[in-house]
Amino acid sequence: MPKDEIRFDGRVAVITGAGGGLGRVYALGLARRGAKIVVNDFGGARDGAGEGSTMPAQKVVDEIRAAGGLAVANYDNVATAEGGEGIVKSALDAFGTVDILINNAGILRDKNILKMEPETWQAVLDVHLQGAYHVTKPAFAVMKERGYGRIVMTTSAAGLYGNFGQTNYSAAKMALVGFMNTLKLEGAKYDIKVNTVAPVAASRLMADIIPPEILEKMKPEFVAPLVLFLSSEKCPVTGRIYNAGVGFYNRAAVMTTSGTVIGDGKKVPTVEEVGAAWEKIVSLKGAREYGQLSDLMGDMLTAFAPKPEKIT
Ligand code: NAI
Repeated sequence: MPKDEIRFDGRVAVITGAGGGLGRVYALGLARRGAKIVVNDFGGARDGAGEGSTMPAQKVVDEIRAAGGLAVANYDNVATAEGGEGIVKSALDAFGTVDILINNAGILRDKNILKMEPETWQAVLDVHLQGAYHVTKPAFAVMKERGYGRIVMTTSAAGLYGNFGQTNYSAAKMALVGFMNTLKLEGAKYDIKVNTVAPVAASRLMADIIPPEILEKMKPEFVAPLVLFLSSEKCPVTGRIYNAGVGFYNRAAVMTTSGTVIGDGKKVPTVEEVGAAWEKIVSLKGAREYGQLSDLMGDMLTAFAPKPEKIT
């Protein structure tokens, strides 16, 4: 074993939607490095339809066990509160704790906005957003108690940047970034780190969106190292977003321009004054990343304070 190998011995990882695609590869990778795994998968169709099936999760558990790892299957639906509780209970019953949670389960129901019926909209929010909430809440309680946790949310470039025909999916995926932003604050005191991955990988979710020759380059295995690093004790960050796919990795961030004051903070500026200041409002020069809401408030409230004189 190399000296600097990142290991997960003694750690318990819950991975939702791990019966195939990316989740399966995360589960195999974590198990290979010593983690005990709860392989959750409801086993429905790509759009979430159907009665569910025990087969996908069980198959991955069999693969892990065949390779000498420890894993149990869970077939709960993340879209319900009972499902979320059931998934965490599986971890507690089998292994006594939860150290790592990868919120990965997902479905797609693409339609343009005019064809987006309420149930199509809701079904996607139920799995991605409610699903992450339902599993995270009971897992967070265990992590807080133990003073350690690693949580990975799964967003998408569709949410971060937009993708035609995916308003439901984009909204759900971006909501997870908001979820992370606050959860990172609530977890900070307990060494619970929360980060987000936007994967790009060949899976059944992408099968009819991406041409086959490109799909070949998009092995889920390329995403897993970043997700495993974020799930490890070595993870140096919390509250960050990463794109990962085809061997390429970068960070996405919400940046805020340094902006400008208009007037003296007593008289409300006119619409025309806002128009005239436009370049100063939007210029990205000197833009920064806020850690939380109060950082923005601080900047706003101190913008009018007299600047200390420069000592020459
Ligand atoms: P996948 O369809 O192969 O895997 C998703 C798994 O989630 C399936 O095995 C499915 O049965 C399971 N699942 C669905 N609904 C569930 C529920 N209610 N409860 C429990 N399990 C459920 O898809 P893939 O690509 O591996 O996706 C994994 C995650 O990555 C998803 O959140 C997806 O939105 C996200 N993602 C994937 C991208 C890609 O390029 N493959 C791009 C951006 C995001």
